[in-house]
Amino acid sequence: MHLDSRHPLAAGLTHDSRLIRAYRGDRPDVTPVWFMRQAGRSLPEYRELRVGTAMLDACLNPEMASEITLQPVRRHGVDAAVFFSDIVVPLKLVGVGVEIVPGRGPVMDAAVRTSDEIDALVALDPAQLDTALEPVIEAVRLTVEGLQGIPGAPGATPLVGFAGAPFTLAAYLVEGGPSKDHIRARALMHSDPVAWSRLMAWCAEVTGRFLRAQVLAGASAAQLFDSWAGSLSLEDYTEHVAPASARVLEHVHDLEYELDGVTHSVPVVHFGVGTGELLTTMHEVGADTVGVDYRTPLDVASERLGGDVPLQGNIDPAQLFAPWDVLEEHVNDVMRRGDSAPAHVVNLGHGVPPETDPDVLSRIVQLVHSR
Ligand code: CP3
Repeated sequence: MHLDSRHPLAAGLTHDSRLIRAYRGDRPDVTPVWFMRQAGRSLPEYRELRVGTAMLDACLNPEMASEITLQPVRRHGVDAAVFFSDIVVPLKLVGVGVEIVPGRGPVMDAAVRTSDEIDALVALDPAQLDTALEPVIEAVRLTVEGLQGIPGAPGATPLVGFAGAPFTLAAYLVEGGPSKDHIRARALMHSDPVAWSRLMAWCAEVTGRFLRAQVLAGASAAQLFDSWAGSLSLEDYTEHVAPASARVLEHVHDLEYELDGVTHSVPVVHFGVGTGELLTTMHEVGADTVGVDYRTPLDVASERLGGDVPLQGNIDPAQLFAPWDVLEEHVNDVMRRGDSAPAHVVNLGHGVPPETDPDVLSRIVQLVHSR
């Protein structure tokens, strides 16, 4: 399916941006940089705006979500906006009882563990999202408009849309909230593989629709977060998880646009934490760029991937608290190692910690852009 001609990629507004070029495997003169969890958390202007509004209510308020998405782009001059939302937003919109508890993360009204509980969950029809996603679609539209008028940014800054991968969503659904090693979710895939695959298929459908809606509404790239896949062995990932993640990406793979007679697809990034052993499979499920956490050096990651896959990452968030000269050397090292990949988008190896001094992030952007 062709993107609308007014979509920022199809209209040629973001196609040649540093970010989208790098995701295509090209090396722009200036290396692009953005930060996972740049929207919210560490910014005082975010905290001020959020007073009195629960996290998921903020995500479903289009004006607020759009403003929060734009804040770090204005402040830091990053090369991408990442949509202010959460991986559990489509779960909430389809009817799952979930809240985000400050300092903890997503907490479910009830854990989904037995075959009957999974049946009740998958009875919630993903097709409801066609209308329920309207506030998300409106927020993306407002954001994309706003990204065309950021002072100092060249052209339009691309918006990265995102979704949680089925395993990471299932880790919250089965555990009922955040957990350390996701043992109940990992147990279920072995104790009842049939129920597990029903759960995975439903998660893929729900999260895939969330991702597709963002791209159709104007996001120029799509990132799949499998934050907790690092708790899986390669064998379990390949057999019980990867097919569902591939299914999510099918929701955006058919979205194309044509420029100067060439057909392009929407770039897809796949990221996980502690997934050094899974990188090749995470690429094979249908990603263009692989996001690498801070544990695997980028030159090692590139070698594992065969040397021809664009990489995103992987500044250690802990280094954000080091003296500037230590952090500067770390960023330079990340960039040197990133040179071994065909293209590199600088990012953190996981999200921005809430206590981060925002000026440090701005300084990293200046450093990356000046190199
Ligand atoms: O990256 C961005 O800035 C865009 C927005 C975004 C949020 N969550 C906003 C948010 C994105 C991309 C996410 C993804 C997300 N959410 C993931 C995958 C990425 C990752 O970090 O691993 C996961 C696992 C979640 C689930 C979740 N939501 C967690 C673990 C938490 C943290 C809880 C906490 O307070 O420490 C949240 C809450 C959340 N999501 C906040 C924000 C800005 C903080 C809420 C607040 O400020 O009150």
